[in-house]
Amino acid sequence: MQQKVFITGAASGIGRATAELFAARGWRVGLADRDEAGVAALAGQLGASAAVACPCDVTEPESIARALAALCGPDGSLDLLVNNAGVLHIGPFEEMPAAAHRQLIDVNARGAVETLLAAFPLLARARGGVVNVASASAAYGSPDYATYSATKMFVRGLSEALDIEWRRHGIRVAYLMPAFVRTPMIAGGRSGAMDRLGVQLEPGQVAEVIWRAAHGRRLCWHVGWRYRLLRALTEPLPGGAKRTMMRWVSGYPGKVQ
Ligand code: NAI
Repeated sequence: MQQKVFITGAASGIGRATAELFAARGWRVGLADRDEAGVAALAGQLGASAAVACPCDVTEPESIARALAALCGPDGSLDLLVNNAGVLHIGPFEEMPAAAHRQLIDVNARGAVETLLAAFPLLARARGGVVNVASASAAYGSPDYATYSATKMFVRGLSEALDIEWRRHGIRVAYLMPAFVRTPMIAGGRSGAMDRLGVQLEPGQVAEVIWRAAHGRRLCWHVGWRYRLLRALTEPLPGGAKRTMMRWVSGYPGKVQ
């Protein structure tokens, strides 16, 4: 039987590339996104046997339930959830409007919880899997991305805990920590970290790691050799050295100005 994957944030960037990859490899893909026109167009492109448009907002539980039912039917089952929908606002913490901080928490953190809650019974029926898209900014609090990186640490914590909790239901959980990826999310923004590290990843590379995470046994997945090397070199460093490195990467001064 054709396996089913529900991908949030499927209209753009990493979610779109992941939808294309799973569809090309024979899965039936639920394209979940608040961009209704975007998922309709992608569903048309992938064809009715490969994809179904599931317009929804991950901050609205009822719309997630409707979207899951569009893919799986009532009391259906789900083989894989890719929790990928997200938003980004870049800049110094105090200069960012409160509404932007709230949206980051609402979509990236609460949206992930709402989607996991809604998908749980379907995943349990299939003894399926979850791949949560966190970020490299979940490794150390990232200046200019303070609230964003905190939401990604939330996603990481959620993944680590559910990996253990949901084992008893036969549901496997994994998460990804990609660094900057060339998608519309980062197209409009600049930061010291983006200038220093550059944008080295394409959405297709991340989709390929999501595929491997969905079929593998590991909990945490990094993307690209550059970042894996950087992590291997910096992970053993003491906290003070990591802080100095993050200050340099972000370009923030070490003294009062
Ligand atoms: P993107 O902006 O290209 O796509 C995000 C998608 O999420 C959009 O289609 C948008 O409509 C959808 N979305 C936003 N809010 C939603 C909501 N409330 N309900 C339903 N859908 C919603 O972004 P990209 O880069 O593909 O990001 C995907 C994920 O990867 C995000 O979680 C992001 O934080 C993460 N990520 C991105 C990186 C990058 O450099 N682009 C690096 C590391 C992680």
